Amino acid sequence: MDVKSLRINGARLRHTLEEMAKIGATAGGGVHRLALSDEDKQARDLFLGWLQEMDVEVKIDEMGNMFAQRAGKNNSLPPVLSGSHIDSQPKGGRFDGILGVMGALEVLRTIHENRLETKRPVTIVNWTNEEGSRFAPAMAGSGVWAGKLDRDWVYARTDIQGKKFGEELKRIGYRGQQPVKKQPIHAYFELHIEQGPILEEEGKAIGLPKGIIGLYWYDVTVEGQANQVGPTPMEGRRDALCAAAEMILKLNELPAGMGGNMVATVGEIHNFPNSRNIIPGRVHFTVDIRSWDDGLAIRAWKEVRKNFEQIAGKRGCTIWIDETWSLEHTAFDQKLLKRLEGITEQLAYSKHSMISGAGHDAGYLNQVAPTAMIFVPSIGGRSHVEVEETKWEDCERGANVLLHGILQSALGE
Ligand code: GLV
Ligand code: MN
Ligand code: MN
Repeated sequence: MDVKSLRINGARLRHTLEEMAKIGATAGGGVHRLALSDEDKQARDLFLGWLQEMDVEVKIDEMGNMFAQRAGKNNSLPPVLSGSHIDSQPKGGRFDGILGVMGALEVLRTIHENRLETKRPVTIVNWTNEEGSRFAPAMAGSGVWAGKLDRDWVYARTDIQGKKFGEELKRIGYRGQQPVKKQPIHAYFELHIEQGPILEEEGKAIGLPKGIIGLYWYDVTVEGQANQVGPTPMEGRRDALCAAAEMILKLNELPAGMGGNMVATVGEIHNFPNSRNIIPGRVHFTVDIRSWDDGLAIRAWKEVRKNFEQIAGKRGCTIWIDETWSLEHTAFDQKLLKRLEGITEQLAYSKHSMISGAGHDAGYLNQVAPTAMIFVPSIGGRSHVEVEETKWEDCERGANVLLHGILQSALGE
């Protein structure tokens, strides 16, 4: 058969994504499928059922990462790996992560039904807890697998209700037997939505990111003194929320003040005891700083940390800071990027070179194996929200680029 003319089944990919979108579906058209929740389990079970319809070997590791391997001619050769994540943000979108897992599944189905014999095995993967929203840090499954995060440290991480990662993983039945350990990988590909506005603005179908910007996460707790709002005068208050508010604005002004290309965000905040007639006694919030220039992000944090301490002191509050997690910027494999460029041209899709502002499991994979990503446009540049949307034709195009990326790597050299 002429392998070059092979295409994935766009209608089947759409159906698969629509079935998945029913799990944790929200009224606003998105999905709420937090890592290690009942919805995560349900989606994993559905994925597992689909895998079992094919001739693949499924392995689940101690981090709940799910691998499905289709044998090649020579199974002693390192496999070609592709996937992404099934978990979502709270009230997140129907495409983030799941497109990369279902896209890889569609590629495997296409290879399977065409009875293609590849030289190398082809493996697809669902990485556990990419989002890091319920349990920080993000990309926990791929991070432990790559040897960059400690398994037991991740197991001990807690969600906002104090539930432990390791126990929740066991509860949903996905704490597997397979030791979590990197294996030699010939090439890793991840298909993902862009999650930003560039491809739409440029009118391009396929984004080929050169790499991913550096991510820096911190957790801040500010302790003041709670008291009755009425009888307590304004002077001398130790209002933890006011201190946090000043810190948040300081952080927001930081990128403009420092120059260079950087973004800084407080996305999560918890106010205690959170009553309209109690002066806030304690606040916890998160800090996310990102830049391609890691040095700039680190200098920015040093600067803002000093500011935070000053603000806390001025307002009679105590501050605790946890340097939770970081992942340096990463530049993808040049050879794989060239390969994907050639494939995109051959398929007659328009393409655009860019940098990923979002984090991905590909960030950890790139530290241990040649890695590249394929982006498809996000309508209105919206993502991590219920209205997140990508056209079905674009999903199909992205999966076709993935198909040929995987095939060229699995058939050749
Ligand atoms: C992952 O979704 C991230 O970019 O935070
Ligand atoms: Mn994602
Ligand atoms: Mn995400």
